[in-house]
Amino acid sequence: MTRSLGVCYYPEHWPEDVWPQDAARMTEAGLTWVRIGEFAWSRLEPALGQPDFGWLDRAIAVLGAAGLKVVLGTPTATPPRWMLDRHPDMLAVDAQGHPRKFGSRRHYCFSHGGYLAECKRIVTLLAERYGSNPHVAAWQTDNEYGCHDTIHSYSDAARSAFRDWLADKYQNTEALNRAWGNVFWSMDYAHFDQIDLPNLTVTEPNPAHVMDFRRFSSDQVVAFNRAQIDIIRRHSSAPIAHNYMGRITEFDHWAVGADLDIASWDSYPLGFLSDRLEADAAHKAAFLRQGDPDFQAFHHDLYRGVGRGRWWVMEQQPGPVNWAPYNPAPLPGMVRLWTWEAFAHGAEAVCYFRWRQAPFAQEQMHAGLLRPDSGPAPGLAEAAQVARELTDAPEQGCAPGDVALVFDYESAWAWTTQPQGADFDYFRLCFAWYRALRRLGLNIDIIPPDTKDLAPWRLVLAPGLFTLSDRLRAELPSCPGAVVLGPRANARTRDFAIPVPLPPDLPGLDARVTRVQSLPPGAAEMLDNGGRFVHWVEDIETTAETPIKRRDGSPALIRHGAMQYLAGWPDDTTLADILRNICTEQGIATLDLPPQLRLRDSGGRRYIFNHGAEAITWQGRSIAPAGVDIRAID
Ligand code: GAL
Repeated sequence: MTRSLGVCYYPEHWPEDVWPQDAARMTEAGLTWVRIGEFAWSRLEPALGQPDFGWLDRAIAVLGAAGLKVVLGTPTATPPRWMLDRHPDMLAVDAQGHPRKFGSRRHYCFSHGGYLAECKRIVTLLAERYGSNPHVAAWQTDNEYGCHDTIHSYSDAARSAFRDWLADKYQNTEALNRAWGNVFWSMDYAHFDQIDLPNLTVTEPNPAHVMDFRRFSSDQVVAFNRAQIDIIRRHSSAPIAHNYMGRITEFDHWAVGADLDIASWDSYPLGFLSDRLEADAAHKAAFLRQGDPDFQAFHHDLYRGVGRGRWWVMEQQPGPVNWAPYNPAPLPGMVRLWTWEAFAHGAEAVCYFRWRQAPFAQEQMHAGLLRPDSGPAPGLAEAAQVARELTDAPEQGCAPGDVALVFDYESAWAWTTQPQGADFDYFRLCFAWYRALRRLGLNIDIIPPDTKDLAPWRLVLAPGLFTLSDRLRAELPSCPGAVVLGPRANARTRDFAIPVPLPPDLPGLDARVTRVQSLPPGAAEMLDNGGRFVHWVEDIETTAETPIKRRDGSPALIRHGAMQYLAGWPDDTTLADILRNICTEQGIATLDLPPQLRLRDSGGRRYIFNHGAEAITWQGRSIAPAGVDIRAID
């Protein structure tokens, strides 16, 4: 696999005579890909039925003539103002019932049939015109589904589509009432038309109702994306990607990904550290200019899974962003490190966002590879350095993981719907397990909850899995490695009820969760191995072996054969200790990496990344701050 670099470019933002110079400078910097078009609807179709593709024809020709390959984005994340005159009810509506007004982006409701038809129309025009253009070498659908909290819409269109979705799922309201438990609080329905969206209720709505609304909302995204893909595929054989955004869990990325050729994601390490990571002030200060050492890698491994091996970083932070509470500059070397880390995890391409900093509008404070005056910004030299380094680096893929971590979007929805403790967040839980594994120096694959074959891994982990799919239940007994589930594994039925027999109800493991408790910050339950459970503790009735107990003697980790269940949320040190012991039992070698050092094996080499602001010596070699050390694996 060839690895290459690219950049996000907005020809419509710049005078046409600048395009050839920009294209020449891109190739001079060693870039291969240029993504364009994803927000350009108002310039592609200034008025309904009056398309103006001339400028895009010329932009693609200029970029292509310079030797660049174009990723053409569909512009459906930014419906132009005239669209609203035509479809006044197309706006998404927030949970408070307020329309999400025109004036930024992503203001559409996925359920609005009229808007979907407009999207199909513009995508058809683009696909017909550029489907066989030799310079259009890939496509991107829309932009960052779910960014700015845009999956759930409480519009009239969504209500009506949700009723149809429910009627299709349950066939009759008796079945729905039974599944949801609507006898509770006299919530029974007699017709599907009586069912509203689960917002603005007096107190919390029925969790089964919310869960179905979340499933429905995710399905709407899948259908919206598929409609675009079907059109593009009719006219083009170029691969199709979508650019997912970090820590967005409101729709099922596995399901969207199944329709795509490539998964890609947008990596903004400093923005994420500041904006969407639970970490103490000391951690945030230590990694202020480097970003969290595990957050990007988690998404790399996730999207390698979602893309069935084919994945990109479509947008890579090149300097300060504009959207986090604080926006520091990366430490010199970090743009290079982030890029190499993506390649070490198997990325085919890394594209920087954006080429030139825009002096106007919302993102004028967002760095590009060029300054607004076209002078080089610091990120450009680092991108060019990676481009030079890539010419000497052999083509390569990514080594298979030692360990698999299940990541399941339904579980994220379930525990958001019913957290039971303010700190119980599914992403946070999985990320804590991922971080512990990285600290042990392991290569990790992130896999979907319905993975068919668990044979490739010697250890499979599934914290917080809401329900056990029939497929996973069938697979578990024959899994050759160890399996560790919990806390909250299989804790609800698909209809969001507590199952009887009580959870976790795992094959061969005699165990029942009889009570759960959530703990506030600072509270902990001590374990007999010196560790602690925080956030969440479960009481278990079991005849299984209990290698770790709570101080009061009740089971903390239980085990039968290769199947293990963890009855709480360990703090980071405890979790690393538990996982280290399990790895040792499984014959998986582990390390004990310092917090700033992380590694990934790839193509017969070990890539070691120093996310620290100081040099560090490890296994006899000094690694510079923001340094990447590549060693042959013996
Ligand atoms: C991404 C988005 C880009 C741009 C960027 C700024 O989320 O896809 O269009 O807004 O953030 O960091």
